[in-house]
Amino acid sequence: MVEEIQSKLFYLGINDRQSDFFEGQWPLPHGISYNSYLLSGEKNILIDGVARSATEEWLQKIEQIIPIQELDYLVVNHLEPDHSGSIPVLRRINPEIQLIGTDKTAEMLKKFYSINSGVKLVKSGQTLQIGDHKLSFYPVPFVHWPESMVTYCPERKLLFSNDIFGSYGSLEGGLFNRETALRHRDSELLRYFSNIIGSLTTPALKALEKLSKLEIKTVAPSHGPLWKEDTEQLFKLYKEWCTMQGRPGITLIYGTMYGYTEQLMEQVARGIASAGLKDFTVIDIARTHPSFALAEAWRRRGLIIGSPTYGNGLFPPAQNLLEMLLNKGLENPVAAFFGCHGWSGGAINKLCKAADKLDWEQPVTPVKFSGEPSSDELKKAFSMGQTVATNRSLIGG
Ligand SMILES: Cc1cc2nc3c(=O)[nH]c(=O)nc-3n(C[C@H](O)[C@H](O)[C@H](O)COP(=O)(O)O)c2cc1C
Ligand SMILES: [Fe+2]
Ligand SMILES: [Fe+2]
Repeated sequence: MVEEIQSKLFYLGINDRQSDFFEGQWPLPHGISYNSYLLSGEKNILIDGVARSATEEWLQKIEQIIPIQELDYLVVNHLEPDHSGSIPVLRRINPEIQLIGTDKTAEMLKKFYSINSGVKLVKSGQTLQIGDHKLSFYPVPFVHWPESMVTYCPERKLLFSNDIFGSYGSLEGGLFNRETALRHRDSELLRYFSNIIGSLTTPALKALEKLSKLEIKTVAPSHGPLWKEDTEQLFKLYKEWCTMQGRPGITLIYGTMYGYTEQLMEQVARGIASAGLKDFTVIDIARTHPSFALAEAWRRRGLIIGSPTYGNGLFPPAQNLLEMLLNKGLENPVAAFFGCHGWSGGAINKLCKAADKLDWEQPVTPVKFSGEPSSDELKKAFSMGQTVATNRSLIGG
């Protein structure tokens, strides 16, 4: 059953519950959706395609409304294959269909799919009257790729936002934000943001500024639930994440081989709890994919990392996370570090170098030790937790 979400606007999204990873690397425990839309009428316009693997199911959905040959346009907001993988088959069935995109889209259509014709170019802010539908196009370069754009429907005050405001997670029954199982909704939205948009916050802020001039009642992204009623909060949340403000709270991430660093972690956690901080979480980085740890680090202002030394550097799972934090450029944490080594150490130095590079505030001297932690070191760990938990930039005041 294809759902008509507004008059002449159909939701054609496909839930992918089979793929284990998005972009071949980000775990999908709850799946993902590739959202696509059809505006029907005098002209029939598709907004975004789906992944190649979802194409057959997508074509079947379209055929429940109109024959594929009767499609006039496909708006290509983004050429990443999770949206464009269906284009070659679509064009084989309907060679007359016109693709709408930016000049960069046209370049990439040649490179990815050898498509050299049937592309209608649009410029920033351009509005087209296509049959009984009016559509405006806004490039949002590098959110996610250089050719990325969004499409606005002024009569409906509806934004087809593509990857912006996208989320992991298949839709579990509901299509709109308030109908969706809240269990995963907010965490999967943030995880998608930190994993996919995290390194693109400067272009994302530019895009948000551009889009905030539009009156938007409905946001229809290309992954995850659609948003209505709460679109203002959604914009606010995205701004908060783009500027890396982080809520008051601490994400305590540690790894251990033989349990010594873990002994310190227990004390750091006791210190945090004793300070009365309610929002903190402990993550064993060897057992948690960095996709999740990154999202948790993004969520809270406080970030404490504990790692033993391994080959003069960090314990590999912690190193993996640190590289991701550097790569995404998470800037604002109030940070602290601890760790155990056998002889000359090295893990803490690497953490401090990263903190300098990213300009992290470090209110506490790192606690590092060799062998078993002494009672003095355990006390220092406790006080590390307390000090970070009561830091002014974390709790305000
Ligand atoms: C494979 C391996 C490599 C290590 N490399 C170093 C090193 O380069 N420098 C050092 O000081 N300690 C090194 N160590 C020692 C550990 O840092 C030490 O055993 C520490 O107590 C482990 O902390 P944990 O109990 O939290 O795992 C290494 C240990 C292992 C198992
Ligand atoms: Fe993308
Ligand atoms: Fe996407």
